[in-house]
Amino acid sequence: CGITASAGDGDAAQTLIDCLENLEYRGYDSAGIALSNGDGISVTKRAGEVADLRAALADGGPSGRVGIGHTRWSTHGAPSDANAHPHTDCTGRVAVVHNGIIDNHDALRAALRERGHTFASETDTEVVPHLVSEALDAGADPETAFREAISHLEGSYAVAMVVDGVDGVFATREGSPLVLGVGTGANYLASDVPAFVEFTEQVVYLDDGDVAVVRPDDYAITDRSGAPVDRPVETIDWAPEAAEKGGYDHYMFKEIQEQPVSLAQTIEGRVEDGLDLSPETLAGVDSVQFVACGTSYHAALYGAHQLRSWGVEATASLASEYSVYPPPMEDALVVGVTQSGETADTLDALSVAGDRGATRLAVTNVVGSTAARESDDTVFIRAGPEIGVAATKTFSSQVVTLYLLAREVASVVTDPPAAAALDGMDELPDAVETVLDGSRAARLADEYLGEDGHFFLGRGNGVPVAMEGALKFKEITYEHAEGFPAGELKHGPLALVTEKTPVFAVCTGRDAGKIESAIREVQTRGAPVVAIAPRTMTDIVEVADDALTVPAVHPDLTPILTNVQLQLLAYHAASSLGRSIDKPRNLAKSVTVE
Ligand code: G6P
Repeated sequence: CGITASAGDGDAAQTLIDCLENLEYRGYDSAGIALSNGDGISVTKRAGEVADLRAALADGGPSGRVGIGHTRWSTHGAPSDANAHPHTDCTGRVAVVHNGIIDNHDALRAALRERGHTFASETDTEVVPHLVSEALDAGADPETAFREAISHLEGSYAVAMVVDGVDGVFATREGSPLVLGVGTGANYLASDVPAFVEFTEQVVYLDDGDVAVVRPDDYAITDRSGAPVDRPVETIDWAPEAAEKGGYDHYMFKEIQEQPVSLAQTIEGRVEDGLDLSPETLAGVDSVQFVACGTSYHAALYGAHQLRSWGVEATASLASEYSVYPPPMEDALVVGVTQSGETADTLDALSVAGDRGATRLAVTNVVGSTAARESDDTVFIRAGPEIGVAATKTFSSQVVTLYLLAREVASVVTDPPAAAALDGMDELPDAVETVLDGSRAARLADEYLGEDGHFFLGRGNGVPVAMEGALKFKEITYEHAEGFPAGELKHGPLALVTEKTPVFAVCTGRDAGKIESAIREVQTRGAPVVAIAPRTMTDIVEVADDALTVPAVHPDLTPILTNVQLQLLAYHAASSLGRSIDKPRNLAKSVTVE
């Protein structure tokens, strides 16, 4: 979910809608705004995308100088008008938007019911305006009432509130992201910077426990007890246009095309100077445990593979499983790989590691994110904002960052230090550029759309690419796709292989013989095979029915190039099928609930 708020001289309605559209990558099954105009609070909300809300407000809806907005990704309660945010109290003088989960909402709701409150939705959020309302009834001023209400909340939340008659927005965070945008004659709040970056590049990253009161001309930040806290105003270090579509049909395609630039940013200065880890991060470390979800997990698998190839013990765990039976982690460096830095499962795994005394390193794209603040050290992947729900350029930047990290870890842990080849790292952006044409991927996407599913095979560092290729494909085409190690083919998946299940075989330059025999195995069952391989690997290219080739670079770096081909394949297949590429059904870019 994403929340936003605006307090300015003009009408906040259109600004809030713009901010919500910029935040839709965080969820888009219902949306709403509440405006305060000195004459009551007006709430407009509905199930559906922000565009539906915009249409509903097109014919001169309510206006107000201050307001709050929300775009939702349902976790509790169906996507309905009633469950859409903002939520109000019984009197309609308090409206609240919320991102996160209030763990004790059942108990709070039961107590409020006993005191005569009635509820309009099934959401956890609705308890907040009721708690504020009670405090107002007891004589508290709005800010005190807000503080009183949030003192009862347990869980993770970023909350913003408007109250009738007050020319400002009250907000706080605890475990969910919230940033403040400092404009001229207007100030903003949002779950993430892209929401308001078209209005201001000056941001203040709020910390857990901060309470912000944001008015058109100024803002104040205090801690929970009311003592002022000083947070620096920072200028974002990427151009606002980076978060726009820039003439492309889809953010995803734009972000695929941006990879030569984003990778150059990731690499800049780091081949020579390293990742600037703090001296304590690698002290006493003898192994690495990666924790991550989704695409980031595939990057983590690559990182673990790379470390093991240099003789360092390393594992990659799905973050949601890691916490179930945490492994022994004495002397392990626990690395949370998370684009957003806000994925609840990954944060939970990092917190489990912290509780057990492990050193935690966050590898993330988002400055000021929870993973960055809560870990002992952070490496930023510097990919720039990614709006398409399906991760593309951030995966490539994660892989490169983890390669560099693996190299640093290996140089400390192995004796004699593993000598990592850095051949070709500087040329990688140019090599990616040559893959971006995509016309062949577009043709093959049409030709090899399977009736019964799609299999993606790899070996070694090609396995994460196969798994990521399948994930990308299923996420945006809604067609069945499965990625796994080529060696596993004979242990089950082969039963499903027919002439109606195209197979995409990823070859990254090593173990070509094994990939070739896997190709022959599936061809014997009638499956058409597309090889994704360096063009110098002529044996593979020739045995396959078709191929998407890439320039020959160091085999450690080939995964990035082969993955770009699979990004293009998925994109074009989804495009031919007319899918909602940037906002695939049921998915959100940042999943801030467990
Ligand atoms: C969601 C997104 C995925 C992403 C995963 C992990 O499921 O849809 O694209 O890979 O979260 O996100 P993170 O921000 O932690 O990398």
